[in-house]
Amino acid sequence: MMNAGVFIGTANRGFAQQAQEELRRLLGSVKSEWIVPGEVFLFAAETDREEAIRRITGNEPVFLRHMQPVDARTSWNGSMDSLMGFVVERLSASPPYTGSKIAVQVRKTEDAAPDISSSVVKTAVDERLSSDYTAEPVVKGADFILSLFLTKDTVYYGMSRPEENLSDWSGGAVRFRREDGQVSRAKFKLLEAEQAFGLDFTQYRSALDIGAAPGGWTSLLLERGLKVTAVDPAKLDAGLLSHPNLTYHAKKADEVVFAADAFDLLVCDMSWSHRQMAKLVRGLLYALKTGGTAIITVKLMNKKAFQSIREVIQDLSPELELQKAKQLFHNREELTLFLVKTR
Ligand SMILES: C[S@@+](CC[C@H](N)C(=O)[O-])C[C@H]1O[C@@H](n2cnc3c(N)ncnc32)[C@H](O)[C@@H]1O
Repeated sequence: MMNAGVFIGTANRGFAQQAQEELRRLLGSVKSEWIVPGEVFLFAAETDREEAIRRITGNEPVFLRHMQPVDARTSWNGSMDSLMGFVVERLSASPPYTGSKIAVQVRKTEDAAPDISSSVVKTAVDERLSSDYTAEPVVKGADFILSLFLTKDTVYYGMSRPEENLSDWSGGAVRFRREDGQVSRAKFKLLEAEQAFGLDFTQYRSALDIGAAPGGWTSLLLERGLKVTAVDPAKLDAGLLSHPNLTYHAKKADEVVFAADAFDLLVCDMSWSHRQMAKLVRGLLYALKTGGTAIITVKLMNKKAFQSIREVIQDLSPELELQKAKQLFHNREELTLFLVKTR
């Protein structure tokens, strides 16, 4: 398994099989074995490392949240000394990293060395990098990511460019700080979508939020300076109601009417069957300008994930054209679509 490109892949819990299927489509036959069942797995491509990365990053999978190369691995007994010995051996065998910014990312399984925390390992490797290799340890904006994955009996080591990992967050686990008075956890989904799809909501003027309550998405868009029209029969958070840029319709999506081309952004986070949701969104598309953006979460009710994606994209076309579909870290039994209105 070690000659071809070998990687650790991570998906949201329960969706790793979908990620493995996507990898088979991109790489042909793929051998994989579980590290954390249903979530984290080792996979070996038939191609070499660079070709596998090229194919995966060139056609980014929906369910593979993160990948990290396995450039070397060793069995270990859980001792810090043997771990550091292995890391130093790998660093010394690599090209010099003098002056490079390196983000050390350490993950471990629950049963791996219970008395050694990931942060202790990270600190030790950071110190070594700056003292012996004159590299600069960083958290964000790295030139390279040094990935360590520790299991009960094995250490996996890889060094990669951040873009080769699909996400520069450790394991693709995007963390946002919870704010005082935050309306809902759902806000993180839209924040993550903004990053993952390379959007900047401050560039939009007027948004329609369908299924807006209690108002996490609405509050983010108001913070970004947009005028927001929120539609939901359920109550919006009382703290939002007095906002001068908010219009709130306490109605269902099929009970409201707007002017044509009133919005340049449409967002929808209704926890409904995907086909019903698509029907309601379609009914309001006249209000989205041509060239406008739509961000929509799609519930994956019965686990027929690929079929649900196909159906919803078909239901929304030809007006809405898919730019990217991604299961985000903050999605649970759902994924998020980024679409543009083309006609
Ligand atoms: C997951 S919540 C939305 C959370 C919201 N994005 C936030 O950030 O707080 C789903 C919402 O969709 C609303 N919903 C369900 N059916 C709807 C319909 N036909 N029209 C409008 N809203 C609907 C529900 O009332 C519920 O408040």
